[in-house]
Amino acid sequence: ESYDMGGHDTYMHKEIHEQVDAVDRVLRGRIDDRFATVRLGGLNLDAREARGVRRVKILGCGSAYHTGLIGAQLIEELARIPADAEPASEFRYRNPVVDPDTLYIAVSQSGETYDTLAAVQELKRKGARVLGVVNVVGSAIARETDGGVYVHAGPEVCVVSTKCFTNTAVAFALLALHLGRIRDLSVADGKRIIAGLRKLPEQIAEVLRGEEEIEKLAAEYANAKSMMFVGRVRGYPVAREASLKLKEVSYVHAEAYPASELKHGPLALIEPEVPTVAVLPDDDLLEKNRATLEEIKARSGRILAVAHQEQEKADHTIVVPRNEAELDPILMGIPLQLLAYHTALALGRDIDKPRNLAKSVTVE
Ligand code: AGP
Repeated sequence: ESYDMGGHDTYMHKEIHEQVDAVDRVLRGRIDDRFATVRLGGLNLDAREARGVRRVKILGCGSAYHTGLIGAQLIEELARIPADAEPASEFRYRNPVVDPDTLYIAVSQSGETYDTLAAVQELKRKGARVLGVVNVVGSAIARETDGGVYVHAGPEVCVVSTKCFTNTAVAFALLALHLGRIRDLSVADGKRIIAGLRKLPEQIAEVLRGEEEIEKLAAEYANAKSMMFVGRVRGYPVAREASLKLKEVSYVHAEAYPASELKHGPLALIEPEVPTVAVLPDDDLLEKNRATLEEIKARSGRILAVAHQEQEKADHTIVVPRNEAELDPILMGIPLQLLAYHTALALGRDIDKPRNLAKSVTVE
């Protein structure tokens, strides 16, 4: 991969399409079929230490924080370690209790985000073990952490993160699998996740082949007054990231909520001019999510669903291929990157350099 535009009009478009190769790269050389696990050379955490971890706390800003939400779910699901994510910018200011049995993980594309770096430095000063999940090799966060996983997304130029988001989520799946296999994840489940990871590049290519359809949808929703993004559990970080993506690049106002929270307030916003994007993985929450679609329809809300099969209650459905349920957040975000991109294009925005934003926020 290079800085050459390679026939694309914007870096954002180029980087969205580079995801097929980028995901292949983050997996390359790391899968260990014999033991149904992965090798993460730079982790610097041996099996005994990994078994001693009682909690995982993931820190990052913006999209990096959102990948942390996905990472925390993957670590809980596959390694059964309690895990959560928090914006690094909040964490560093609240005098957090630093626990010796907690593994801290800092996430960053650039590795230079000041808030995340400051959180790492504060943690290190208090004696914590901090790993990095970072894209830029040799960056400040990569240097300050005790070890970690490189994301190998290649250079990301567009201010709006796409391929690095996806690759970071895959890197978290690798880390969760690694920790899981050291703890209680069975060989069969390890193999199942590995098979799912291997399917991702081709499935991403399949999603990208649907771009024309998404372009039409973007034209239809581009004039929305505001957009609501909802999802439950695995769908929620996808909704968070898609909402941020749309705001950043198209300047269309968007809100993201857990679908279950709608009835606690935001339902008041639903009207035909405020469409909802609903992320519906095919898991045991599907029926609950379908009930949410009914609630939205009853308030005359328009619905764009992202799901594994057509949704009757939705006005439109973007169908994404099935993979292992744990990996759903990785694949389901990709059509929504295209939705943000085509909405911005339809509205004539400066896609690679949205107003008021910098690629890397290296100041307080
Ligand atoms: C991503 O689309 C954003 N531009 C922004 O939220 C970004 O993810 C955030 O500033 C963190 O950057 P980093 O990954 O380089 O630390």
